[in-house]
Amino acid sequence: MGQDVEGTYYGDYLQLEKLLDTQHPKSKEVGDEAHDETLFIIVHQVYEMWFKQIIHEMASVLDIFSAPQIPEKNIALATSRLERVIKIQSLLLDQLPVMETMSPMDFLEFRDLLVPASGFQSVQFREIEVRMGLRTNNRKAVDRDYFLGRLNNKDKEHILNVEKEESLLDLVNKWLERLPFTQKENFNFWEEYENVISTMLKRDEDIINNNLATLSPKAKEGQLANLESTRKTFSSLFNESEYGKLLEQGKRRLSRRATLNALFILLYRDEPILQLPYRFLTCLMDIDENFTTWRYRHALMAHRMLGTKIGTGGSSGHHYLKMAAENNRVYIDLFDLSTFLISRKDLPKLPSDIQKDLNFSFQG
Ligand code: HEM
Repeated sequence: MGQDVEGTYYGDYLQLEKLLDTQHPKSKEVGDEAHDETLFIIVHQVYEMWFKQIIHEMASVLDIFSAPQIPEKNIALATSRLERVIKIQSLLLDQLPVMETMSPMDFLEFRDLLVPASGFQSVQFREIEVRMGLRTNNRKAVDRDYFLGRLNNKDKEHILNVEKEESLLDLVNKWLERLPFTQKENFNFWEEYENVISTMLKRDEDIINNNLATLSPKAKEGQLANLESTRKTFSSLFNESEYGKLLEQGKRRLSRRATLNALFILLYRDEPILQLPYRFLTCLMDIDENFTTWRYRHALMAHRMLGTKIGTGGSSGHHYLKMAAENNRVYIDLFDLSTFLISRKDLPKLPSDIQKDLNFSFQG
C-alpha cells in the first residue's frame, strides 16, 4: 500500500488495512448477514478506541501525581488532560443514540450469537474504573462476581495487577494531605472554621426556638431533629474517631486530613493559588458524573433493547446496570463536601501571611 508515494502515506500511518479488516459479523459466518451487526461492532470498537485514549491520558495524570511534590505547572498539565477526558466522555454519551438507531427486533437477528460475550469483558472499561479508584471492596457483592468473573485468565491477571497499583484517588488523597496553608504556628484554620460552624448552628437553633409561637410542636420537633443531624454531620468532620468509623464503613474514601484540605480549596477557591487545584477537583467530579450519566443512559438503552431479559453476560440486565450506576461512583467525597460549604461572608478571615501565600499577581 502506498509504495509509489514518497514519505508517510495516510493509510499506512493509520494502519487502515488492518483496522478496517476487523469487522466480521458473526451472522455472516453462520448464514445471512444481519445488517445492523456491523453497526454494533463498529460502535463497540469506537468505544474501545476512546477507552484506550482515556487510559493514555490517565497514565500521564497518574505519573504526574506519583511525584512526592507536584510543581504547579504539572497540575495545570494534569488538569488539561482531564479536560480532554471530559470532552471524550461527551462523545461517548453521543454515541448511544447512534446505537439506538438499531431496533430491538434488529438486535434479535444476531444477539444469541454473542453469548456469553458481554460488556463485562471490556478490560479497558474495568481498567479505567480501577485506575480512577474503584476497588473490588467498593462494589456490591453481585457486582464483585461479575467484575472479574467473566474475564479470561490473562485479562483477569492484568486487572488484578492494575488493582495493586496506586489509583488516582489514592494519589489525589496524598496530594491533598500535603496542602500547606491551613496550619501555622499562630493559626489553625480548622479551629477557626469549627467556631464559625458552632456559631452558625447556634444561630439556627435560636431562630427555631424564637419561632416557638409560630411553629406547631411537631414542626419545631422536626426542625430541631434536622438541626441535630446537621450538627452530627459536621462533628464527623471535626472528630477523628467518628470520621474513622465512616472510613471503616466505606462511607468515606478520602482521609480526614485530605477531606479538610479539599474543603479549604473549595472555600477559598477565589484565591489565585487555589484556582488550579479547584479546577482539578472539579474535573474529577465532572469525570465521575459523566461516567455515572453514561451508566444510566446505557442501562436505559439495555432496557429498551432487552426489556426485562437477562444480558448476554448473564446479569439481570437493566436492573443490574441501574444498580451499578447508583453504586459505582468514585469521588463521592468531593460531591459531599458541598454539605460543609458556608457563605463567603462567614468565612474565617485568614492571617495576612497566609493571605499573602495564597496570592500572586501578573505584572505583565
Ligand atoms: C444493543 C446495545 C447494548 C446492550 C443491549 C447492552 C447490554 C448490556 C447488559 C445487559 C450488560 C450487563 C452485563 C450482561 O449481563 O451482559 C452490559 C454491560 C456492559 N456494557 Fe453494554 N449493552 C449494549 C451496548 C454497549 C456498548 C455500545 C458499550 C460500549 C462499550 C457497552 C459497554 C458495556 C460495559 C462496559 C458493560 C459492563 C458494565 C458494568 O459492569 O458496570 N455496552 N451491557
